[in-house]
Amino acid sequence: MKIQSAAVAVILVLARVACGAGEEQSIDRKAREIIVKKCTGCHSDAKIKAAFSAGKDMRAIQKEMQGRGANLSGNEQEVLGIYWKHSPQLK
Ligand code: HEC
Repeated sequence: MKIQSAAVAVILVLARVACGAGEEQSIDRKAREIIVKKCTGCHSDAKIKAAFSAGKDMRAIQKEMQGRGANLSGNEQEVLGIYWKHSPQLK
């Protein structure tokens, strides 16, 4: 009985870890697509990588870019917002 519930607990934890990782990967992929589509028309993504790596406030920069004309949907803003928070560095 004890072993069984321990096994169930382990499986639950593993499932949660697997789900979380998958979600993060797809956010990364979506965010990169958005960056290529919406951000690299005016400048290269090297500029974005440099600012990100330097630890600049990407959310503020994103807002500033929207002011300059980056046309992001609500969903795209959200994905990028999560991306800046989740990824310590662009890969
Ligand atoms: C309408 C043109 C335009 C679009 C679209 C655009 N940018 Fe920019 N971006 C600029 C300009 C102009 C500058 C400032 C001049 C420069 O550094 O080339 C700049 C500068 C930057 C910088 C450097 C700022 C700093 O403080 O280091 C970053 C980072 C950046 N943009 C990120 C983005 C991201 C992320 C997106 C997509 C959401 C984006 N940009 C879309 C025009 C644009």
